[in-house]
Amino acid sequence: MSKPKVLVARAIFPESIERLAQHFEVESNQADEVWSKAQLIARLQGKVGVFTTGSERIDAELLDACPGLKICANMAVGYNNFDTDAMTAHGVLGTNAPDVLTETTADFGFALLMATARRIAESEHFLRAGQWQKWAYDMFSGSDIHGSTLGIIGMGRIGQGIARRGAHGFGMKVIYHNRSRLDAALEAECKASYVGKDELLKTADHVVLVVPYTPASHHTIGAAEIALMKPTATLINIARGGIVDDAALAVALKEKRIAAAGLDVFEGEPKVHPDLLTVPNVVLTPHIASATVPTRKAMADLAVDNLIGYLVNGKPLTPVNPAVLAKN
Ligand code: DGY
Repeated sequence: MSKPKVLVARAIFPESIERLAQHFEVESNQADEVWSKAQLIARLQGKVGVFTTGSERIDAELLDACPGLKICANMAVGYNNFDTDAMTAHGVLGTNAPDVLTETTADFGFALLMATARRIAESEHFLRAGQWQKWAYDMFSGSDIHGSTLGIIGMGRIGQGIARRGAHGFGMKVIYHNRSRLDAALEAECKASYVGKDELLKTADHVVLVVPYTPASHHTIGAAEIALMKPTATLINIARGGIVDDAALAVALKEKRIAAAGLDVFEGEPKVHPDLLTVPNVVLTPHIASATVPTRKAMADLAVDNLIGYLVNGKPLTPVNPAVLAKN
C-alpha cells in the first residue's frame, strides 16, 4: 500500500525528514527555496500534510486549491501564518510548537534587553571600526538592568520566563500587562504586578513585548504609545513583526524620544524598515529568539510528532484549532 504524502516546505534537520519518511512519502525542500503561494499550492497537490515553519501563509485561497490537505504543522509557537477560521471551515487541522522553546526564547529576550540597555552592539561596531582611541568617562553609558522596572506586555509562558529572570536574577521590579490577569500564585512566583498598558509604558525602564500577533495586537506600540515612555527607556520586541509600528519607532529612536530598542522581529521581515538600519541606538537580530540547536530540534520534533500523531494515530499533540477534531 502506498504511503500518504506530506510536504516539508522549508529546509529542516535531515533526521526530521528521516522520521517522517518512516510513515509518509515525503517531498522536502532541502534547497530551502522560498516558494511563492502558487508554487506551494502546486507542491501541495496530493499531499495530506505539510510541515511549515511559520512563514508559509495558509489561507482560504490555498485551502480551496488543496482539497486533500488535512494538517499543517508549524515548527513555531506563533501561528499567525494560519487563517485558523478558514482552516477549521475546510476541516484542516493546524498545530504549533509551544513549551519546548519557552526558556530559550526567554533567555534571548533577556540577552537582547542587556545588549540594548548596555549598548553592546553599538560599542562593538565602534571598536571594530577602529574608532576606539582612548577611554572616556561617558563612553557608551547605558542604563541599568538591576534594580530597574521591567514592563512586560504579554504574560504567557515566555513573558513569565522573562519576569522570573528579571525579578529573581536581577532584582528588577516587574510589572506586566496582559489580556487576562495571572492567578495570584503565578503572580507571586514571577514577583509581577498587573498594571494597565498606559501605566506600564509610563513607568517601565525597559518594556518587553511578547504578545501573539492578531489583528487586535497590530501596532500595540505606535507613536502614541512611544510618547508615553520615558526618554531613558528601552523597548524590546521578540513577539512578531507588526506588533510595533517600525516606521514610528525609527523616528522615535532618531529623535531620542526613547533611549534604545532591541528588535528580533520586523514588519514585512526579512525586509527591515530602512530607517532602522541607519539609527545607531537599535540592536537588530534576524528572528533568532528560539535559535539554539537543542530547541530548534525540539521544535522540529514536535512538528513531526504532530504530523505522525494526527495522520497515523488520529491524536495530534498541540492542535491550535481543536474544533476540527470534534468534527471528525
Ligand atoms: C515562534 O516559534 O513563533 C518563533 O517566533 C519562531 O518562529
